[in-house]
Amino acid sequence: MNTTLKTSIDKLIGHKLLSKEEFVALLNENSEELRTFLAREAFAVKQQHFSNQIYIRGLIEFSNYCKNDCYYCGIRCSNRTLSRYRLSKEQILSCCHQGYHLGFRTFVLQGGEDAYYDDTYMTDIVSTIRQQFPDCAITLSLGERTKESYEQLFKAGANRYLLRHETADAIHYKKLHPPGMSHENRMSCLRELKAIGYQTGCGFMVGSPYQTKEHLAQDLLYIQDFKPEMVGIGPYVSHKDTPFKNEKNGTLEDTLLLLSILRLMHPMLLLPATTALGTISPEGRELGILAGANVIMPNLSPSENRNQYSLYDNKICTDEEAAEGLHNLKLRMQSIGQDIVIDRGDAPHI
Ligand code: 5AD
Repeated sequence: MNTTLKTSIDKLIGHKLLSKEEFVALLNENSEELRTFLAREAFAVKQQHFSNQIYIRGLIEFSNYCKNDCYYCGIRCSNRTLSRYRLSKEQILSCCHQGYHLGFRTFVLQGGEDAYYDDTYMTDIVSTIRQQFPDCAITLSLGERTKESYEQLFKAGANRYLLRHETADAIHYKKLHPPGMSHENRMSCLRELKAIGYQTGCGFMVGSPYQTKEHLAQDLLYIQDFKPEMVGIGPYVSHKDTPFKNEKNGTLEDTLLLLSILRLMHPMLLLPATTALGTISPEGRELGILAGANVIMPNLSPSENRNQYSLYDNKICTDEEAAEGLHNLKLRMQSIGQDIVIDRGDAPHI
């Protein structure tokens, strides 16, 4: 490693901020030596703030209908080969009950942008979960909605909202999304969510088509400025029924480096080792934790629907990924000295 790079690393660790040029230089380097060094530092920061605790979130993928047509996503509306499903309020509640007994204290309701779940229905679902599980956190991941809708769902008892910004660069955003979709609106949704009081999560895919290191540096600068409580990142994984079917996947190495940088920038961040990371490498999630991640989101959706929520090819739906495999997941975490805890795992300052 050259001295300029070493200075940047010291600055990142000490001041938690870098300039765009410094981020680009780090991302361009991405040597084994750099990755190992940053992973050790990031893991130490994670241990310092969260000890060996790993938070789990029960992911309920309640609908794979989506009005959007994102070029990278397998549940895009133009994908006619996909069989679509929706879970009823009762089915969602039953996932929560199963999850609660397994030890989950956060439920993540994620779905495509599906107008069937209008404000009235969604508010009813959220307030019923809130009544039945007063000690649990409710996280929503429903895409772009109106400010009024976000407010209503917050009042009904939702605590957190995940909305990946996908890319901080408006021109790159246009290359990933059809003309009707607006980068500006997405960014404004994120600001609204935060202002309402949600613990807010943004995020992006690593190695998405047309992405450059400059774009990734812009994503990091955006995160530096926005200060989200959570950041979801995972490698881009191509899906056979999308216009990007021939694009190459993001790499494990790039994702791990970015996880470490994010932990060093933001020691208290809730940072999941995502399913996509586990999909591109059998040890992806363990490596993610060792690089600074502190959250895992096993699937609580009914097993018959898990394959249908196909954002990308070969999504892992193995036992360990599924909530029933929690015991195995615990063993895997123990093998790297980590403990899965029964805890809401809120953002520290909340
Ligand atoms: N590869 C990886 N991640 C994807 N997502 C959607 N499609 C893909 C893909 N092909 C991510 C997006 C979205 C989140 C729910 O899943 O970042 O915000």
